[in-house]
Amino acid sequence: MSQRVFIHDVVARDGFQIEPNWIPTERKIEIIDRLSQTGVAKIEATSFVSPKAVPQLRDAADVMAGIRRNPEVTYVALVPNARGAERALAAKVDEIVLVVSASETHNRANVRRSVAESFAGFTEVLAALRGSDVAIVGAIATAFGCPFEGVVPEAQVLDCIGRYVDLGVRGVTFGDTTGMANPRQVEQLVVRARERFSDVELTLHFHNTRGMGLANVVAGLAAGVARFEGCLGGLGGCPFAPGATGNVCTEDVVHMLQCMGYDTGVDLDRMLEASRRLEEIVGHALPGQVVKAGKSSDLHPLPAELATPST
Ligand code: COA
Ligand code: ZN
Repeated sequence: MSQRVFIHDVVARDGFQIEPNWIPTERKIEIIDRLSQTGVAKIEATSFVSPKAVPQLRDAADVMAGIRRNPEVTYVALVPNARGAERALAAKVDEIVLVVSASETHNRANVRRSVAESFAGFTEVLAALRGSDVAIVGAIATAFGCPFEGVVPEAQVLDCIGRYVDLGVRGVTFGDTTGMANPRQVEQLVVRARERFSDVELTLHFHNTRGMGLANVVAGLAAGVARFEGCLGGLGGCPFAPGATGNVCTEDVVHMLQCMGYDTGVDLDRMLEASRRLEEIVGHALPGQVVKAGKSSDLHPLPAELATPST
């Protein structure tokens, strides 16, 4: 039996939040609906943040109300505070992602508060969620490096995990917000985290800003991680991190994993169709490679001079 790897697509949040042009609500819904039919385990559909901070996602409630849910898929939304949690609950999300940055500077740029203030605020979020059965995951942005501070000490990341664990989260996601992670670092941090917090379900979220994205996925797999996030087409980036560019491209990750013999549960052809449609919707070229090159199993016709002439 091949090893199961769970794919989460975050294009509707991490991708759409940074697009310069407004993407109509029904087009966002269309992409999420297409993704719902691909076999991904989770879809991060939107965020319930301040519409002033992220105007692209100001239609979060309408997006959640408009999608056709597949019961096999977990629909996730990012939430920064209790207000967001209330909005997310009203929209009936399955899972909420809290976010804090491992570096103080990026946390201030992103959510305008210190790391300690963020965690204090999360207790209010939990209070707002009491009595509901919504799951909570804790994301740690800039876990592998910060565009303002550079190296982020491992101890800061481990400290954030500990605080999330104290809050009772289901899992923790390491975000490489601006593509600073390298494979050796990924393996070391994952091993360290699993030593200290063996019960926490880890997810890795890479950006391909410096071309290290797929190598980092392989490093995460080697260290025992089974959940990876990507963006359809390789769209994506944080509006509050200079130089941020696209996430690892979900269909390229799936293609690689399938070539390596992993079971992703994903119908790659459907995902490639969704990626082509996404490119039409955003109206510019996307960095995904398999959609351009075709799958490695797609063969080309022999050159005419080598083709055996028929009788
Ligand atoms: N949903 C909707 N509106 C919200 C909100 C939420 N979750 N949280 C705050 N607001 C509104 C407030 O009502 C207020 O509106 P007003 O100016 O009309 O009164 C305004 O946003 C500012 O609220 P305040 O509590 O003072 O927050 P802030 O200005 O300190 O901003 C955040 C803090 C976290 C709300 C804001 O920075 C944010 O939403 N950041 C999003 C970060 C993000 O998505 N990053 C990318 C993903 S990692
Ligand atoms: Zn991201």
